Amino acid sequence: MNVLLGISGGIAAYKTPELVRRLRERGAEVQIVMTSSAEEFVTETALQAVSGRPIRSNLWDKEAEAAMSHIELARWADVLLIAPATAEIMARLASGAASDLLTTICLATRAPIAIAPAMNHVMWANPAVQKNRETLAERGIHILGPDSGSQACGETGEGRMLDPDEIAAIVSGLQVDAGATALLACKTVLITAGPTREPIDPVRFITNRSSGKMGYAIAAAAQQQGAQVVLISGPVAITAPRGVIVHEVQTAQEMYDTTHVHIRNADIFIATAAVADYRPVAVAAHKIKKNEQSMSIELVRTPDILTSVAALESGPFTVGFAAETENLREYALGKLRRKNLDMIVANLVGAGCGFDRDDNAVEVFWQGGEQAFATDSKVELARRIVKLVAERCAIT
Ligand code: C5P
Repeated sequence: MNVLLGISGGIAAYKTPELVRRLRERGAEVQIVMTSSAEEFVTETALQAVSGRPIRSNLWDKEAEAAMSHIELARWADVLLIAPATAEIMARLASGAASDLLTTICLATRAPIAIAPAMNHVMWANPAVQKNRETLAERGIHILGPDSGSQACGETGEGRMLDPDEIAAIVSGLQVDAGATALLACKTVLITAGPTREPIDPVRFITNRSSGKMGYAIAAAAQQQGAQVVLISGPVAITAPRGVIVHEVQTAQEMYDTTHVHIRNADIFIATAAVADYRPVAVAAHKIKKNEQSMSIELVRTPDILTSVAALESGPFTVGFAAETENLREYALGKLRRKNLDMIVANLVGAGCGFDRDDNAVEVFWQGGEQAFATDSKVELARRIVKLVAERCAIT
């Protein structure tokens, strides 16, 4: 795979030698094109050493152009990746500018383009930047991240460049999907998975038997269909597929808050999590000692994440799960209507089925249609559910 790596001038550029290493470990040839401001953050010498190819930066470099012109570079690339992508390069790409070598190549290539934005969180939240992100996503440019966390400026928020390893994994997937028909190319899918834990005191909590297997299988299936996947996961014993962005949470409230931080970028929301419906009113500061013969814990409702997402104005295509021990169809259809969902996936749980198993059987309902999938592995079921979601999402 030939990856043309465009580096623009943000502080995260210091991570690009690492990114080149990760891409090359995956068998990629990497040709670097830097913008002039990128040279302020990372040296040509380092990048040339790790990529093994001369660095390109100047559209008017006669010698370099004679060896491989910008049009030849655009044709050479199987994937064009810009990491980090600054607010400036996003604006230039959105406007269709061809003011330097990198933007010219972007206009001249037929290869899939992916960008990994990286900037201060206030800049990322700026409506102008968000408008450019939307424009680029609508044109089929893959937007990788950004992640949230501590930033070089000392603040915390959304705008960190994704980990080089994650970027390399996603970019490798893009080329595989470019040959196949990826049903969710350029879509961002946000998934909740696993149980939540509602603390009672420092050593005890209320939880349930969800293993997270269904949600993680859905995440893998969505990624295989070319989606960028963000997984908000309660505590589970399984690992997410490479390239999926995982946010670990404990409580229903944390899952709610994290979902709403990321929902703006999502085209599809799939709520597979077994969210605790109630939490203790108060969390004891110290371990509760046993004194009385009986005790009770007062519980209050947790926020319904799925209902809150389905209620968003111009929100994503919203898919719920319904785990029931009886009256599957009736309860599932009730939830579809009550929670105002686009689709609901229903399965029986209890003796020998559902939770903490590798197989399952499901019935899927939407307004005016339904489909049943017989018992199969959760991995296979996830593939079928994701295909159905992609088809329904394309129709509605
Ligand atoms: O109402 P019920 O809990 O049965 O609905 C199940 C669906 O709602 C699942 O998709 C689950 O992930 C979601 N849910 C949620 N937040 C809650 C409770 C359920 O997102 N607090």
